[in-house]
Amino acid sequence: MKAKLSVDFTQARCGAYKDEVLMKRALEIREYLKEDKEDFTGWVNWPYNMPSAWMDDMKKAAEDLRAKCDKLIVIGIGGSYLGSAAVIEALGGSKPGCPDLVFAGNNMSGYYHAGLKEVVDNNEVCLCVVSKSGGTMESRLAFSILKDWMYEKYGKDETAKRIVAVTDPKKGILREEADKEGYVTFEIPGNIGGRYSAFTPGIMFPLAVAGVDIDAFVQGTKDIADDEAFWKEALGYAAVRYELLEEGKKIEIFEYYDPSLRLIGEWCKQLFGESEGKDGKGLFPASLTFSTDLHSMGQFIQQGTPIIFETIFNVVNRDKDVMVPESAGPELAGRSLNDINAMAVKGVMAAHAKADVPMIKIDIEKIDEYTLGQFLYFLMMTCAVTGKLMGVDPFNQPGVEDYKQEIRNLLGQ
Ligand code: PA5
Repeated sequence: MKAKLSVDFTQARCGAYKDEVLMKRALEIREYLKEDKEDFTGWVNWPYNMPSAWMDDMKKAAEDLRAKCDKLIVIGIGGSYLGSAAVIEALGGSKPGCPDLVFAGNNMSGYYHAGLKEVVDNNEVCLCVVSKSGGTMESRLAFSILKDWMYEKYGKDETAKRIVAVTDPKKGILREEADKEGYVTFEIPGNIGGRYSAFTPGIMFPLAVAGVDIDAFVQGTKDIADDEAFWKEALGYAAVRYELLEEGKKIEIFEYYDPSLRLIGEWCKQLFGESEGKDGKGLFPASLTFSTDLHSMGQFIQQGTPIIFETIFNVVNRDKDVMVPESAGPELAGRSLNDINAMAVKGVMAAHAKADVPMIKIDIEKIDEYTLGQFLYFLMMTCAVTGKLMGVDPFNQPGVEDYKQEIRNLLGQ
């Protein structure tokens, strides 16, 4: 197989992807990252080096859970949540006959979590708790609440058999509890941070339970390892993002014309926002669903404060479609809705070009496991390279650590 993505810079209004000096720097950064010399750069080679036994163990454990439940409640937040949620949403849900994924611990709303009681009462459930540190407040709260409900329903011993913990190999309270209670566990390698953990069990194990082909997910990334044309486009995108910020474009909007990519947009916000937004620098990442948001934010993009550029995630082929009936009128009848949506991409780009808004279009051949794996890896590399070009550490999150500590202080922990 091959690269399933291509980047169209025609409307970027920025020639950084052709700037030899900048592109050389971007390439050097990628080569440096591949050396894995710096903390939290383990993700770069991980898809290529992951022991095959990890994949086998995940598939085996996933099969065991599939036999036990019809809902898998996945507890986690940030990088320990968005990857699996985004992929499963983009794929249109779990595969037939596999448990649905239900997400918890990605907020602290009592209202939201109260709704999960019914899920536990009315279904066969298992839990997958994902936390690299093991101590994140949201995940800990949801885990203790859901465990209690499961104790009531199944008793303590059976509950332990229905829990899979994905956490640090050695440390943290989740690791300690898992070892004590005998949960099945998987590791997030120590040198891979949350938002770069797409190819670790934190993201892939829940997907495996949902019947997602995790081999294909990893393979999409493996197959572009040495594809220099592919990397030239990814690095070109990083260079353009960097240059547009230098030119005063402060906001990047990720846009997609299919609501099933909404959580991919959220995943991007987390990846790019947490990686770049520090030391007074970084692009502010936003995401919009089109054509829905054209009827609101579209106005701002065209004629509001000119600090925005757009990155369009354009899915070229979709495997489901609807034909427009006669009653829609002669101009539209007989056309496919996907074709009309594709016309909207062209029309909107033409209108936004007239308003001088820079646009980068990423053509995504189709949505499947193979392509999604490749896409997430492409975005992680783009993000890390742009962060380095900006002069920030794309792998830490001092602000997030600070807010977590402030909440712990307030709660007397
Ligand atoms: O990217 C990150 O490091 C964060 O978004 C974390 O994934 C998030 O804070 C959750 O942390 P943990 O997995 O330790 O519970």
